[in-house]
Amino acid sequence: MDMMTRIAALTADCIKALWPDAEGLPAAEEIRGLLAVPPDPALGDYAFPCFRLAKPLRSAPPKIAEAICGAWQATGTASVQPVNGYMNFFLNRANFAAEIMAELSEKGDRFGSSDEGSGKTVCLDYSSINIAKRFHIGHLSTTMIGHSLKRIFEFLGYKTVGINHLGDWGTQFGKMVCAYKKWGNKEDVEKRGIDAMTELYVRFHQEAEKDPALEDEGRAWFKKIEDNDPEAMEIFRWFKEVTLKDAAKVYDKLGVSFDSYAGESFYNDKMEPVVRMLKEKGLLVESQGAQVVDLEEDNMPPCLILKSDGATIYATRDLAAAIYRQDTYHFDKCLYVVAYQQDLHFRQVFRVLEKMGYPWAKNCVHVAFGMISFEGEALSTRKGNVVLLEDLLDQAVEKALAIIEEKSPGLPNKEEVARQVGIGAVIYTDLSNNRIKDIDFRWDRALNFDGESGPYVQYTHARCCSVLRKAPDFTGVTPDWSALTDDEAQALLRLISRFPDVIRDAADKYEPSMVTRAVTDIAQAYNKYYYEHRILDGEPAQAAARVALTGAARQVIKTGLYLIGIEAPERM
Ligand code: ARG
Repeated sequence: MDMMTRIAALTADCIKALWPDAEGLPAAEEIRGLLAVPPDPALGDYAFPCFRLAKPLRSAPPKIAEAICGAWQATGTASVQPVNGYMNFFLNRANFAAEIMAELSEKGDRFGSSDEGSGKTVCLDYSSINIAKRFHIGHLSTTMIGHSLKRIFEFLGYKTVGINHLGDWGTQFGKMVCAYKKWGNKEDVEKRGIDAMTELYVRFHQEAEKDPALEDEGRAWFKKIEDNDPEAMEIFRWFKEVTLKDAAKVYDKLGVSFDSYAGESFYNDKMEPVVRMLKEKGLLVESQGAQVVDLEEDNMPPCLILKSDGATIYATRDLAAAIYRQDTYHFDKCLYVVAYQQDLHFRQVFRVLEKMGYPWAKNCVHVAFGMISFEGEALSTRKGNVVLLEDLLDQAVEKALAIIEEKSPGLPNKEEVARQVGIGAVIYTDLSNNRIKDIDFRWDRALNFDGESGPYVQYTHARCCSVLRKAPDFTGVTPDWSALTDDEAQALLRLISRFPDVIRDAADKYEPSMVTRAVTDIAQAYNKYYYEHRILDGEPAQAAARVALTGAARQVIKTGLYLIGIEAPERM
């Protein structure tokens, strides 16, 4: 339990003991929310404002603060003083340090983990790329937010299922197969992959303008795909393979993997029962020839289920997918990490599931995120300025290598470190802001070793490793925790003690950036400590304590980076 939670729990106990019959008093959780860190350390390590208690107790805050402080003193956990209606807590700094360090050495690299998710399953739908399309920088957020959330939930004991819900269904694939049959060339597609497929698709549209009959041919090929025609399927499956091979290169670079690639076409034979059920429940109504679920009561446009030609659509597939996932994985939560533009789609789908009588519909969550631009320019396919993710990653590694060559020419494994730093810089940028905010990717910021960046945090980790390498062997030395009572050490310890809570909050809010923020704060606090104190000097018992603190910072930074999908080199 971290210090704030403990103080809150004890305060709640004191209040209860003092006024057993009063009503409307805050519980420990609310008290925890009200606890603040005073701007001036002379006012204590934490402060609790008693104003919230004035009304239920019908008494003045200063009087209340005095009464609770009296009860508190008896517990001995911290000394506490009433000041102007506040309770100011002064921790026993050496004890505080000893407690956290004991927890860290007990938990080791599991510090911050928990088993609160044990027996529960979280499905995560992320990345979910489209067949025959390039992996561009716009796909970075879904991929990395999903990947990070997967690690965070696993760290909290959940079983997770990572699903790449491939966009592998739609009339465009009929057109593409048709174009391939007419003008395609096997070696070319093998060699140039998605570029060759895209060209075929573009050519199809150009030719179809001259010869509208082509559209019918394209539709006929799509029908063949739907009917599992062997020739059509072979070509289509091959297109898929080529796309996935290309994507695998990016996934490898990012260190991302999936448990399932069941995409839209996987549900081809699973929608009929969904449509039947919608009919049986009287939810389907006709609208201009199409079958829809009316959502007027919910202030939403109708959810389209079957087009007038009877074809299913994106939403139908998502209904089938959600039901399949519940039946197969029995998820406690199903997260959809998809851009905010699809907000309405998911609200509609979740509402329809609810109307179908599935109580678990409320456990489906759209984890939305904002747009990414590059050096101030929006990424629009139409204007042609698409930044390919693979190129971006390669460039990041190259630029990182150049910086490393300059800063640490003697470093062994320069290439490997440059890979970790370059990729880390890109991921950090993506996960550094509240996910709903738009991101502008800029090289100078991403690779600034001194600013708030991936390389900065990684560098701090490497610095900790270097201190630990230089430290003598302290076996047999009992650390003197009173060496960690200075402001810098305490600030660092406080951040470390809050780390487990940060992970939990990040999971609650589906917000990896909270972990990014925490590792950055810890890195900054460590660097401040590092500059102010001579870690290896002085009495062995004191040096041992400072080295242990360095080990703690290293551990937590490494865990935090892992949770956002970034590697932590030991030398930089
Ligand atoms: N392939 C879709 C796109 O790129 C995202 C799919 C998201 N997942 C889902 N179950 N709808 O827009």
